[in-house]
Amino acid sequence: MKPKISPIKPFYSEGRIIEQKNEYAGYLDLLIEDKVISRYGKPGQFVMVKGWHSNDPILARPFDIVQTDSANNLFRLVIKITGRGTELLNSLKTGDMLKITGPLGNPVKIKVNENIALLVRGVGAASVVYLAESAKKAGVNVYTFLSASTKSRLVCRDYLREASTDLNIATDDGSEGFHGDARDLLEQHIKKLKPDSKPGRIYTCGSKRFARFVSDLERKGLTKGYVFLESYMACGIGDCHGCAVKKKNNTGYFLVCKDGPVFPVNSVELD
Ligand SMILES: Cc1cc2nc3c(=O)[nH]c(=O)nc-3n(C[C@H](O)[C@H](O)[C@H](O)COP(=O)(O)OP(=O)(O)OC[C@H]3O[C@@H](n4cnc5c(N)ncnc54)[C@H](O)[C@@H]3O)c2cc1C
Ligand code: FES
Repeated sequence: MKPKISPIKPFYSEGRIIEQKNEYAGYLDLLIEDKVISRYGKPGQFVMVKGWHSNDPILARPFDIVQTDSANNLFRLVIKITGRGTELLNSLKTGDMLKITGPLGNPVKIKVNENIALLVRGVGAASVVYLAESAKKAGVNVYTFLSASTKSRLVCRDYLREASTDLNIATDDGSEGFHGDARDLLEQHIKKLKPDSKPGRIYTCGSKRFARFVSDLERKGLTKGYVFLESYMACGIGDCHGCAVKKKNNTGYFLVCKDGPVFPVNSVELD
């Protein structure tokens, strides 16, 4: 009997690496053939990936779905190489197989007729490419603010340029785009927009400073804010409680994998 594939419940599959690039030093871009994620993965969702046979490390690692191409059974991940798991993924070759669980987490619902802004830093950019692409396809204006310490860390720049209505770049050292803080760039930009063009929502990822800024904007009544949260994950499906984060005002815990990974910015403690 054929396994029943649900668009909501995770599925365990094997994906084949079709292409791997290290266009940015320290980052890995993987194009993977997998019928499940390419077909059912939605913006905001992630996968747990294991590409090694040993038990070191024992757990798969979580990564956001960057792009999908259901016609060709493909999806993309962009990975910052930080430790053993990501180093092992970086050592794989074209044709190698990955164990994949997903799609996991809750998709972001795109509201047609409500423009959005994306404020991201570093590999946080990987979280919003799919959202940008889907929102733009739905006719939503997507104003993206991509930030990094320097030009060589502007991960996903080309994907975001394609997926956004308007891509604005800021680097700390001025090597590309605006020399300074992407928060200033975003504020200047929004001030210039006509009231009916302003973003109704801002999504942020990759920087606590950015999340606090988005939280302040919401408190001032300017826009609604949402944050992509990360946490250590073991199961990815709500069983182990390893990914708990505090709700606002210490009113309990959310599980990043089951309740998120995208949260209203003022519903969680940002410490
Ligand atoms: C829902 C979700 C989506 C994610 N999407 C992406 C993505 O698209 N691209 C990407 O590059 N990374 C993403 N991450 C982070 C990624 O999962 C970790 O960087 C990865 O698991 C590190 O594995 P490792 O074995 O290489 O490093 P480890 O040896 O486990 O850790 C190496 C270093 O990274 C730190 N670290 C590990 N995991 C995390 C984490 N979750 N949050 C903060 N610090 C951490 C550790 O403190 C340590 O300093 C995501 C995480 C979550 C929870
Ligand atoms: S990772 Fe196990 S509950 Fe979230």
